[in-house]
Amino acid sequence: MTHIKVNVDGTIYEDDVEPRLLLVHYLRDRLGLTGTPIGCDTSNCGACTVDLDGATAKSCSVLAVQADGCAVTTVQGLAKDGEWTPLQRAFHEQHGLQCGYCTPGMIMAARDLLRENPHPTAEEVRGALEGNLCRCTGYQNIVRAVLAAAGQQDGSGTQAQAPSGQQVTEEATA
Ligand code: FES
Ligand code: FES
Repeated sequence: MTHIKVNVDGTIYEDDVEPRLLLVHYLRDRLGLTGTPIGCDTSNCGACTVDLDGATAKSCSVLAVQADGCAVTTVQGLAKDGEWTPLQRAFHEQHGLQCGYCTPGMIMAARDLLRENPHPTAEEVRGALEGNLCRCTGYQNIVRAVLAAAGQQDGSGTQAQAPSGQQVTEEATA
């Protein structure tokens, strides 16, 4: 067993864990934070994406012991006092999900993108989310939600002028 101390969604946890324990299993099984799902066995779906010390990480490909001393933010740590973030609201308003299984990872990856690039193009959104798979939506509304959160669309389906002066179209293309 290895002793770890991790800040998860603003709460400090100390635990003794098996060195082989994956971070996603630590979050879900030990801490009960089941908002971070497991969508594959191959580290390629991105459903388990979390923020690890300011960068996104697939929590199924990180050991819990590697998070020792780190700050982890899961999708469950985003809303404050019951208030969704603009990005979460945009996913809701733009119908950026169907079954919702990929949504936590999509939101965490999109959050990272908007931190680095507050006004991305549709192509940049698609590029940032290429590590996250959705089996339901066809991605259109996910891209639309991220653009809406970035303030590049008015959410009504009409074309909007991007703040940077570039034009973005409603229908994102691959
Ligand atoms: S569960 Fe982590 S990438 Fe699929
Ligand atoms: S909404 Fe079902 S997998 Fe994306």
